[in-house]
Parts: sequence; structure tokens; C-alpha cells
Amino acid sequence: MTTLCHELPAWQQLKKHYQERIQSLDLRQAFAQDTQRINQLSIQAPHIFADLSKNRWTQETEALLQQLATESSMTQKRDAMLSGERINNTENRSVMHWLLRMPADQGALARSPVVRAWSPDMHQALQDVHESLDQMLALADQIRSNPEITDIVNIGIGGSHLGPEVVVNALEDWVDGDKRFHFVSNVDGHELGHVLRRIKPESTLFLIASKSFTTAETMLNARSARQWFLENGGNEAPEADCSIDQHFVALTTNKNAAAEFGIQRTLGFWDWVGGRFSLWSAIGLPIAIAIGSEQFRAMLDGAHAMDAHFFEAPLAENLPVRLGLLDVWYRDFCGLSSRCIAPYSHGLRRLTAYLQQLEMESNGKSVTRDGHALNVPTAPVVWGEPGTNGQHAFFQMLHQGPDVIPVEFIALRDGGKYLGEHHQSLVINAIAQAQALMVGRDGDGAEKFCAGNRPSSFLLLQRLDPASLGALIALYEHRIFVSGAIWNINSFDQWGVELGKKLATQLHSHLERDDWSGVDPSTQGLMKRLAQAKH
Ligand code: F6P
Repeated sequence: MTTLCHELPAWQQLKKHYQERIQSLDLRQAFAQDTQRINQLSIQAPHIFADLSKNRWTQETEALLQQLATESSMTQKRDAMLSGERINNTENRSVMHWLLRMPADQGALARSPVVRAWSPDMHQALQDVHESLDQMLALADQIRSNPEITDIVNIGIGGSHLGPEVVVNALEDWVDGDKRFHFVSNVDGHELGHVLRRIKPESTLFLIASKSFTTAETMLNARSARQWFLENGGNEAPEADCSIDQHFVALTTNKNAAAEFGIQRTLGFWDWVGGRFSLWSAIGLPIAIAIGSEQFRAMLDGAHAMDAHFFEAPLAENLPVRLGLLDVWYRDFCGLSSRCIAPYSHGLRRLTAYLQQLEMESNGKSVTRDGHALNVPTAPVVWGEPGTNGQHAFFQMLHQGPDVIPVEFIALRDGGKYLGEHHQSLVINAIAQAQALMVGRDGDGAEKFCAGNRPSSFLLLQRLDPASLGALIALYEHRIFVSGAIWNINSFDQWGVELGKKLATQLHSHLERDDWSGVDPSTQGLMKRLAQAKH
């Protein structure tokens, strides 16, 4: 049996370190006593500068965390991912979303000893990636240049929705042309209904995005969209005008299911692309339609730059590693159960929703990859809203509440083409909030007292462009890999979501049969109220 993370020597040393050095650490004194703190605890990674000095840790903390990474074989696990090993052990799959953004000549990783030792299958996989990418981008450019298509409706949920949605929203300054993008995910008919009321079959392209092509919500939305299409002038026959063939594209690994649904145009991808890691694949078609093939490739390049940094930089100079270890530090040693994401950018307004799936579906688990109970906390609750809105919603609690909640600020040096004064105000607010959390306030009466000494990280991007966004998302992907490797969990499956799906199917059946045997009283009572509502 492998050693559980809390049995490792470094884990015990970190617990002692917390009690002796950090529990009473005051950030204000730490800065006063160490003028080098800001430099020692900041780092420049590709496209992103990170000031980690306002966190409740020291260089000694980081050194012990890096020792924990070593004892957890984190670099060996990282190299196993880079070599194409099937590290998603419960689904017997490789984990290679990073391959989707690797240049055909292997780019910055060409000199990696791990890449140089690749099997022929890996070289073939990279070739397949580029054939698929070229095909997707050609289709995207064809759709972009078609003036008859005015609306793109992406129907998908989870990673088949959140990834494309966060990127199309974030890169709205890079979206050229006048096509409208709609993202439909919820099975609530209001979402699809609101979109259908505003589009026409002849000028709409439906993208049915589903890795499995079996997800109930997506399939119901897709069937309803097809029914609407046929009832409003669309045609089933491929050779007819305004046909399903011309106005529906499937984005999936399950081409057979797409064909059975009646869609012949399918962009495929591979089972080694996890749903929450799939925006770089065919699932990213709406992104490519929105920003064009050149900018899509720029986004891939930004992510690849972060990949090379993650796979090759020494642990102490590796931003994804330092952030992943910080997450373990806060969760398991400081006892902090959530992290607030505060992107000071309207464009990043959907980032937190995306990161919730990325982090909480990846690491919200309680068993190790070997199936052993893990008796330590794992993924924190990730939540938040863009700044400055959060300042007028929940920052009160962050400043004066009983819980210490680490805040992750994300800001842009260059605010792009709109209203420079607004951007200066935005960034100064972000910096001031991070400062206020740390310095606090005393002496103005109890009701105004802010304890201060409250931690935050500050990520600063040059601007919100495809390359920077690619690097930012790749940073978060690798960061959850690191914390997952320390906890020794499988960050790439999601068995926990199966039970709810199964019970929903059973309740449909109970409702149809009006037979509630074996159903608990609460569920039964609620279902009966639902049934009564129909009469
Ligand atoms: O939430 C479970 C999940 O499988 C996610 O991992 C996935 O992103 C989502 O459902 C949608 O799955 P699919 O892309 O197969 O429709």
C-alpha cells in the first residue's frame, strides 16, 4: 500500500512548522522584518506575474512544501503525464490536454528528455492532433466567412460549455465580425427557449458539444433544437436547402451516437481529453469561429508556454507548482476550506464558474488513486465574482468575518481599448483590497475594526489576449494536477456525478409508474407535489 500523504515526513514537519512559525505569523511584521519578502515570494511565469508575498507562508514554508512534493513523487507523476501513461487509472486513459497545444515540432518541449523518449504512439498522437486542429480551424474560418450564418448556438454542459463560454466572453475584444454566440447548457427550457425566440433556422449553426454524446441535458436540448429547426422551415434531407446537415455540427468523441442523432458533420477528439480540459479540442470550435484560426493558435501557444514552464522549471521557480502547494498548505495545514477568486476584469466574469468545475470536479474527492480512504481535506470550495462587484457583495465578510478566506486577485496591466480611466480605477481597487485585507484597521471603534493579516495572491497579466488567457487557464489546469498529486488522488475522473444521474432516471420511472415503493418519504413527498402540480 502506498504511503498516504499525511504519513510522509514532510507532512509532519509542515504541521510542526505551522504551529511554531506560521500560526502566529503577522504579515505586517513579516514585511517590516524582511525587505526581501516581496522578491522571494513573487515569480514571473509566461504571460503572468504572481505576487505571492501576502500569503501566510515564508520561504521556509515553501521549502518544506517542495520537500512534500518530492516525497509525493510529484515530478515523476508529472513526467508520467508527459509520457502519455494512462494516469487516469479508473478510466484507463492517458491525460493529454497539454498535447492539444503542443506545436507539431514539439515546440518548447522538444528538448525534454521525456518527450525525446516518447513511444511511436505519442508521435502519432501529436500528428493526429494537428490534422484535427487544421480541420477544425478550416471549418471555423469557413463559417466565419459565411455571411448567411448570423448565430452560433453551442449546446453542451460542464466542460463542453464552460470552457468555450469563458473564452468567448473573455476575448470579446478579439471577436471580430458580427456573429452572435449563444451558450445553452441548462435543461431548463427557458434557456433554450429564450435563444430560439431570437434566431432563425436558415441563419443559425447549432453546435452539439458533448464528449460522450449521452449527457441527458445536452441530448434533450439538442432534440428540442432539432424539433424547432424542422418545425420552422428546416429540412431533414441532406440535399435540401436549410438542412440538418448544413446547420448542425457535432463535437464529440462518439461519432456513432452523433450519426444516430442525424448529424453527419462531426469534429472528433480523443478519450484522453477530459471534459473539463477540452476547450483546446474540437469543443473549442465556437472559440475558433469567434476569434479566428490565427488567434486560436495564439491561445494554444500561450498555453504551451505555460506547459513548458510547468514541465521543466525547477519546483521553486515553477508557478503552477508553487500555487498547487499553496492550495495544499491552506487546506491541510492552515485549515482554510475555501478560496475566493476575484478577477478584476469584466471579460473574466465566467472564469470562476469554469474554475469551479476544473478544481472541484477534479479534486473534490476522498479516496486515493489506489482506492484508500483519504482522511485529509482535499479541494477547497472555489467561489467568487469579478471585482469590483465583489466589493459590494461579499468583501465585507472577507474583511470582518470570522473566517479567514484566501483571495486570489487577477488583474490586467493593460485594460485594452476601452476607457483608460476606468481601467486605472479597476486595478487600483484590486490592489487596495489586497492591501486592506493585509493591513486591516484598528482604533476607529469595534464596529470598524478589521483584523487584517488576511492572505491573498495577486496574479497580474499584461493584457487579456488569447496568449495570456491560454497561459492562465493552463496554469490552473497544472495547479490542480500538483495538489492532486500531493493528495495522490485521480484528478481526472468524476464518478461522484454518476449517482445523481442514476437516481434522476429512477425517479422518472417511479413517476411514470406512479409506484413509490422504496423511495424515501422526503423524495416521495416532493415528487408527489410535482405530480399534483400538473393537475
Ligand atoms: O459533470 C460530469 C460531466 O461528465 C463533466 O465531466 C463533463 O464536462 C460534463 O458532464 C459533460 O459531459 P459531455 O461533454 O460528455 O456531455
